[in-house]
Amino acid sequence: MRILSGVQSSGRLHIGNYYGAMRQFVQLQDQGEAYYFIANYHALNTVRDPKLAQELTRDAALTYLSLGLDPKKAVLFRQSDVKEVAELYWILGTVVPQSNLERAHSYKDKVAQGISPDFGLFAYPVLMAADILLYSADAVPVGKDQIQHIEFARDWAVKFNTQYVPGYDPADPEGKERGHAPGILKLPAAHVQESTATVPGIDGRKMSKSYGNTLELFGEEKDIKKRIMSIKTDSTPVEAPKPTTDAPLYDLLKLMLPASEFAEVDATWKAGGKGYGDYKKKLLEAFHTTFTPARQRYAELRADPGELERILQDGAQRARAEATRLMDQVRKAVGIP
Ligand code: TYM
Repeated sequence: MRILSGVQSSGRLHIGNYYGAMRQFVQLQDQGEAYYFIANYHALNTVRDPKLAQELTRDAALTYLSLGLDPKKAVLFRQSDVKEVAELYWILGTVVPQSNLERAHSYKDKVAQGISPDFGLFAYPVLMAADILLYSADAVPVGKDQIQHIEFARDWAVKFNTQYVPGYDPADPEGKERGHAPGILKLPAAHVQESTATVPGIDGRKMSKSYGNTLELFGEEKDIKKRIMSIKTDSTPVEAPKPTTDAPLYDLLKLMLPASEFAEVDATWKAGGKGYGDYKKKLLEAFHTTFTPARQRYAELRADPGELERILQDGAQRARAEATRLMDQVRKAVGIP
């Protein structure tokens, strides 16, 4: 099984990225051939400072490694190190209906926030589909917000194969039956862990760099504490039972505490008698217990930029070998010498 996923280097990574996606990346590296990358082309949609773009790319790579990604098992690379992705993006774009892009959630959300969209934002899902299809991925571990993008990638792969592969039958995409040909572009499937599909931010909306409501994985300890203490709560008195819906503090405790400890919290939460301040302290402790080892690795790796670059170069080489193989077939199919 080929597993592939990426994170944008558009800001410091947060616990939504970890529980929604990166924790699965680490688990899955033992279950198949895993390819993980830093989407630094995508990040240009929001990061317009070249120094910061480079710094955030490096930071995302350090984050992957600190969280336990093993470059001997998984291929870790920068999106921009494999230029074939930009070529596939264009070729694929020629079969993408504009109407699909107009109904993309990511685009509609940004427009609803009053952001005037650039072409890069509009075409974002096409580059993401190219990322996935270039490496013939079977499974793409992601949080819930990315599911639509993966469905698009499937639809466009079918469109491309139908157009360019003689004997391709969309009902038999792998060409298992006689007379049918397998597609050049393989159909991927989203791999979403239901319990962590959407991690809430400190204001109760989805945790997102663009909402400024994150708990950064390797943020300053003072800042983490301040943010945890400012998690949105209601005015239920200390002695009263607390609500469990629209309660980001409750959801985050459930996410971060070991099951047995959460069971105790759950019981007092529902019975009343403890204040939100106590629960916030508990969450802060859980944050430290969970991420202190990764934080130490982060500091060590950060001190050795040569080693990080060596890992990324090695990953780029391995990814490029795969990308070149697919692009040979794609170019031939469409008639580009
Ligand atoms: P990005 O960088 O926004 O997020 C990276 C991963 O983290 C997940 N995630 C969350 N999961 C649960 N709750 C949250 N609050 C939360 N916030 C983020 C995302 O679902 C994602 O899995 N377009 C992608 C990057 C990308 C990509 C790809 C992913 C580019 N090419 C190819 C997979 C395959 C993005 O912006 O993710």
